[in-house]
Amino acid sequence: MDNNYLTILNDEKNRQNKSIVLIASENYASKSVREAQGSIFTNKYAEGYPGARYYGGCEYVDQIENLAISRAKELFGAEHVNVQPHSGAQANMAVYSALFNSPDLIMSLPLDHGGHLTHGSKVNFSGKFYNFKHYEVDRESEQIDYDKLHELAKIFSPKAILSGFTAYPREIDFERMKYICEDVGSLMIVDMAHISGLVAAKLHNDCVKYADVVTSTTHKTLRGPRGGLILSKKEYAKKIDKSVFPGMQGGPMMHTIAAKAVAFQEALSEDFVEYQKLVLKNAKSLASKLAKSGLRIVTGDTDTHMLLVDVSNFNLTGKLAEERLNESGIIVNRNTIPYDVNPPRICSGIRIGTAAISSRGMDEDAISVISECIIQILRNSSEKNIIKEKILSLASKYPILD
Ligand SMILES: Cc1ncc(COP(=O)(O)O)c(C=O)c1O
Repeated sequence: MDNNYLTILNDEKNRQNKSIVLIASENYASKSVREAQGSIFTNKYAEGYPGARYYGGCEYVDQIENLAISRAKELFGAEHVNVQPHSGAQANMAVYSALFNSPDLIMSLPLDHGGHLTHGSKVNFSGKFYNFKHYEVDRESEQIDYDKLHELAKIFSPKAILSGFTAYPREIDFERMKYICEDVGSLMIVDMAHISGLVAAKLHNDCVKYADVVTSTTHKTLRGPRGGLILSKKEYAKKIDKSVFPGMQGGPMMHTIAAKAVAFQEALSEDFVEYQKLVLKNAKSLASKLAKSGLRIVTGDTDTHMLLVDVSNFNLTGKLAEERLNESGIIVNRNTIPYDVNPPRICSGIRIGTAAISSRGMDEDAISVISECIIQILRNSSEKNIIKEKILSLASKYPILD
């Protein structure tokens, strides 16, 4: 018995059960996914790929990796799949290393407009090794201005244009992206980490049919284990596989790959589509309720699982809003809003996602309670204990399924 471990585990279990998680990148993996990830596949070394390993005893891990690959192909309609990346960041790293030479020019949305660290931030490998030029969201609409992107792409002639974001609440026009990429002769790469569950359920424009390469995490809306994934057209298969192993990683995490296989099967079900519909309905409803109470929703609405909320007209910073909500049991993260006047650590917004609460089965009634609590907390209501009680009671009404 490792009591220290068990105590910490129990504390985390309580924290998860008693709080309302609105972090857009978090979710609750099913028991089957967690059991696969905690399975004996963790014991196995399997450098290489199915049928071509550098270790003996790989007959069953070959089967599990092939199962994950075939299910991902079916789910997303991909020509080629690599399920080995340990994380979303490593999937991106492997793709860049497979397709680009330092310092090739790549176009992307910057971090402070909703892109990810690995999309060219100066503090990340991507911004250090490659020459990233950024397109931005429009100042008025706060959405991607595809005409402007097209003009910039003609000027920069990038090797690739990257789309798919971390904090962008609207649907992405992948067909338009493809048109621009073809016009300027650049590769189309999509990082669908946030929206992969919606794409799998066909509730967001498909990117797999247009893009040369698509990367993803498996733990956000897709609700699988923490990990990465690469989908691509056949012609990039060899380069990408070589870049993941032996280029970037050693032994694949076979237990995580087993859990990915289980998660992909879950995502192929009708229940998963219904779940994603609930995610979208809850996000729209929350956006509309918060807006009615005076909060500004960046871009005015959401088409995804995520909304960005500008808290400045409540005389708050994102940092303070995050801290106040956290104290009461509502967990969000601060986030810059486009053209933010505050520095990133302080910022003016919070990012809210409905993937996790929807996995708990929360619906319209719960959304009403959550939005009321958010507003009261941000208005610094003196009824702090009553609000905390409301949140606790809501959390206990929708337990995390074990
Ligand atoms: C768009 C996008 N790409 C990549 C990542 C990185 O994923 P990971 O944390 O698994 O490295 C994230 C994580 O938030 C993301 O939002």
